[in-house]
Amino acid sequence: MRLKDKVAMVTGGANGIGRATVELFAEAGARVAVADRDTRKGKALVDGLLAGGAEALLVPTDVSSDTDVATLVNETVRRWGGLDILVNCAGVDITGSVVDTEPERWQRVLDVNLSSAYRTCRFSVPHLIARGGGSIVNIASLQGMYGWANYAAYAASKAGLIGLTRQIAAEYADHNIRANAISPGGIATALGANSDQLEPRFAHDPGAPAPAPAAASPAPAPTAAPEAPRLRRAGLPRDVAWAALFLASDEAAYVTGHNLVVGGVLSVAL
Ligand SMILES: NC(=O)c1ccc[n+]([C@@H]2O[C@H](COP(=O)([O-])OP(=O)(O)OC[C@H]3O[C@@H](n4cnc5c(N)ncnc54)[C@H](O)[C@@H]3O)[C@@H](O)[C@H]2O)c1
Repeated sequence: MRLKDKVAMVTGGANGIGRATVELFAEAGARVAVADRDTRKGKALVDGLLAGGAEALLVPTDVSSDTDVATLVNETVRRWGGLDILVNCAGVDITGSVVDTEPERWQRVLDVNLSSAYRTCRFSVPHLIARGGGSIVNIASLQGMYGWANYAAYAASKAGLIGLTRQIAAEYADHNIRANAISPGGIATALGANSDQLEPRFAHDPGAPAPAPAAASPAPAPTAAPEAPRLRRAGLPRDVAWAALFLASDEAAYVTGHNLVVGGVLSVAL
């Protein structure tokens, strides 16, 4: 049990990569708080984990709200007496070039994808310090490292998240707090559809290309063909969750400030 008795919090835990992370962490022995706006899927997930004997908690959360995030951290700590692991996975895929991105769109993407991690860290770090250390894992994107047209705010939010990760790693190293990012490539989730549903005001940018069929990822789509080599197909949510498990666990005790690309061949060749 790689996370036995650890207390973990996963934002965006109701779907996709976050959900796979919650499930894997629970299998690894962690107690997991699921924070998400999608309370229907979140409740079904937590009910299933509890029925299987795991310890889990749903805290309905909008990560763009200071009040919600404070409640999330307080409820988790009250339930289990502390906090060891924070995974910032909540995110939305909202498109637009720099010129097409009106200020509200820009602000919303940064609030959900980037300021959310500032917020959760601000409330969580004191609890990690009280515990003698901990691990923060931020789900960024290949798009935080390279540019693709029509994702101005999204790319900026993910690049910012990689920078924030390094900052936290430097700032809290003396408290034994590690912070690492994961940059997925194209992962087969419903990110695009979920984002449209959660953020209808920003659902479609007239200048945007049609969503990639192989994966919900805003990153360039790997081929969808099932017979294609594994490293050229869309990744699975669990591919990212395994990386998060390593970074969250004591096996990564000397790994901090890193940005781990989980993108198949997209890591090296487009
Ligand atoms: N799927 C990909 O190809 C891919 C590639 C690179 C990075 N990512 C990143 O991975 C993360 C997870 O995405 P996914 O692909 O699993 O998509 P997903 O839609 O399955 O998961 C995103 C989750 O975040 C939640 N969420 C969105 N806004 C929220 C808010 N304001 N407050 C709380 N929860 C909120 C959604 O309800 C959902 O459960 C995102 O940050 C995304 O940017 C995904």
